[in-house]
Amino acid sequence: MTVTKKLLRSLAGEVLPTPPIWMMRQAGRYLPEYRATRAQAGDFLSLCYNPDLAAEVTLQPIRRYGFDAAILFADILLVPQALGADLWFVTGEGPRLSTVTAQAEFDALKGKDDIHEVLSPVYETVRILSRELPSETTLIGFAGAPWTVATYMIAGRGTPDQGPAHALMAENQPLFDALMERLTDATIEYLSAQVEAGAEVLKLFDSWAGSLKGEAFDRYALEPAKKIIAELKARHPDTPIIAFPREAGERYIGFARATGADCVALDNSVSADWAAEHVQVDGCVQGNLAPTHMVTGGQALVDETRRIVKAFSKGPHIFNLGHGITPDADPENVALMIETVRNG
Ligand code: CP3
Repeated sequence: MTVTKKLLRSLAGEVLPTPPIWMMRQAGRYLPEYRATRAQAGDFLSLCYNPDLAAEVTLQPIRRYGFDAAILFADILLVPQALGADLWFVTGEGPRLSTVTAQAEFDALKGKDDIHEVLSPVYETVRILSRELPSETTLIGFAGAPWTVATYMIAGRGTPDQGPAHALMAENQPLFDALMERLTDATIEYLSAQVEAGAEVLKLFDSWAGSLKGEAFDRYALEPAKKIIAELKARHPDTPIIAFPREAGERYIGFARATGADCVALDNSVSADWAAEHVQVDGCVQGNLAPTHMVTGGQALVDETRRIVKAFSKGPHIFNLGHGITPDADPENVALMIETVRNG
């Protein structure tokens, strides 16, 4: 089958005249239509588990901007919830979870094959989207990487330095390793079910990979990604996978080769010229524009967008931000970014 969708062509290694574009958190609070649908759903989790409304918010940025890809609307913390953790969101503060720091709490978690009952609305969202998306738009499914998800499960919330997870790793490594293994296995089943429902590309978000150093990076960021990707490739050989070991720095080098990822997503702490030389040599890269430009806009946004497009123009590239767009972003700046990428 000939691949015609732009995003899939870049992921297959083609160098296109202008890169495909999508944006992390493209369905989100900076859009008035998102805020309206979220209000209709009630809270954020009710939106994630309502297939019609989750599909609606996924489609909103596609209608408004014509992005080349849609990312399933859900959250990385639905997997801990499916494993049996309590999960809720405190307005203005972020997620809260019941913690896993003792053996008994780990023993109470569900097995990898018991997650689908909770997650089945997400698969339904994927099915709706694969029917309703424009034919040129690629549907991306996703999950959190085990380390990032574990940091939330161990601390019970987001943490600036992932201290509680590092502490458990040091104090009770067998328990920490058992949790990582359960998350790795559950992530494989979750992502595989998304592909079966119609996801065309998968992305693995390791937002806190940067706090793992040296051997710990290999053991808890690289190895789980490698295992997840190998198993998904065995089951779904034609589904490209994007890995996002955020703030990996030098460890971005060789990450795609070592894990089998088809593309690595770059945060905005690395320079585009450096990444073109050291990371893009292995294949497609995505990302790098600082999300703050979506707040500030103007000539700096145009200049920086052009600089990133040019830096990555000799290899396969997907234009994206280095991290999620923030709620204070101006929707007009998103339009300006897209116009600049597509028309120079
Ligand atoms: O990118 C997309 O548009 C798809 C949907 C998506 C969301 N979260 C929706 C969301 C994706 C891919 C995620 C991933 C996610 N969730 C990550 C990894 C990526 C990253 O940002 O580093 C993480 C760490 C989470 C966990 C999470 N979810 C936190 C810490 C928060 C609170 C912070 C915040 O931005 O409010 C969320 C909430 C969340 N997830 C929102 C959205 C649109 C905001 C919720 C709201 O509407 O109030």
